Amino acid sequence: MMHRPESLTFPAGFLWGAATAGHQTEGNNVNSDYWQREYAPGTTVPEPSGDACDSYHRYREDMALLASTGLDTYRFSLEWSRIEPEPGVMSRAAIDHYRRMVEACHDAGLTPMVTLNHFTVPRWMHADGWWRAPRAAEHFARFTEAVLPVVREGVPWVCTINEPNIIACGAGAEEGGANLVAHGLARPSRQVSDGLVRAHHLSREVLSAEGIRSGWSVATQAIHAEPGCEELARAYSYPLEEFFLEASRGDDFVGVQAYTRTFVGPDGALPPRDGVETTLTGWEYFPAALEIGVRNAWKVTGHVPVIVTENGIATADDDRRIDYTAEALTHLHEAIVDGVDVRGYLHWSALDNYEWGRYAPTFGLIAVDRTTFARTVKPSARWLGEVARANSLSFELAGGSA
Ligand code: BGC
Repeated sequence: MMHRPESLTFPAGFLWGAATAGHQTEGNNVNSDYWQREYAPGTTVPEPSGDACDSYHRYREDMALLASTGLDTYRFSLEWSRIEPEPGVMSRAAIDHYRRMVEACHDAGLTPMVTLNHFTVPRWMHADGWWRAPRAAEHFARFTEAVLPVVREGVPWVCTINEPNIIACGAGAEEGGANLVAHGLARPSRQVSDGLVRAHHLSREVLSAEGIRSGWSVATQAIHAEPGCEELARAYSYPLEEFFLEASRGDDFVGVQAYTRTFVGPDGALPPRDGVETTLTGWEYFPAALEIGVRNAWKVTGHVPVIVTENGIATADDDRRIDYTAEALTHLHEAIVDGVDVRGYLHWSALDNYEWGRYAPTFGLIAVDRTTFARTVKPSARWLGEVARANSLSFELAGGSA
């Protein structure tokens, strides 16, 4: 039997926190492309976002609850459609709102990490051609300039674009044809992938000129090949993952987001195998995905520091959330021991929130009553807060599951 230490200690200064995104928590982002889609005739979105968690007004409460558990970092996103409601028209009030959020983080004792774009764009940007538009990167750079007052002080890490690879897959699905694979994500649109890389790099130029450290976050898929399908798996993986990690070379950090794994067989990506445990999103329960994603990001970027910007599980069983997270952290620690420079772990999500079309898959450390917006801190939040306070995962805390 392998010798198991009593506890796993994380590097000094390791960030421990949780993440959210504007459209999923704020409510009433009526000027965003996703809201438009929610109400489009014949929409395929089953449930609209509505008031979401009303975090646009309740963010201080969210932050206070997170801080009360022992967590020290909060990742949230700016809602571009509020800040720039029409091309080039910036809302000073919206910029002030997000600056107040940064200040509120500090007041609560949390380090803010700000994401400039988490999937949604203003309606005008969508109408203009979205990330396919020749001017998309310039639009995003202009937006980055406009939000400098939010991130210039007291924000040690800025994430430019969340999961560009998932955005590109969404575009691939829209484009149809050969992009549509048998299962899972569509093949990423090359045009949109290129547009996002340009936007990221231009935005980083703006941020770096101000001395602000930035990177972006990539959705990692822990791709596994079925026997004999190694080449196919590599071909599936490259445009989806490595392409975006290569674009992170030279960044100040790379955000790794991991939830599950994907098997690739002769016909492409496969659904979870019969009999495996799946979560409320239908994904395989596979906490080791985090270590695989982190190691791959470290290797492909040529050793850019890693921050885990999302990791979590959609479940109604909060004990299972603790099991999953303990296992994921145990795996993450293995990578750290092997020399991967990991700066922090941000759980997805702080709140049960709008899971892009549905409220049912609950990822939150904190529950939100859908009618009253009352928040209830779950045991998993207290558990993760204890890990954060100790900067160490003890097997007693992990309930013996790790
Ligand atoms: C996204 C989140 C999403 C989560 C769970 C990530 O793809 O960044 O917005 O809610 O995964 O699906």
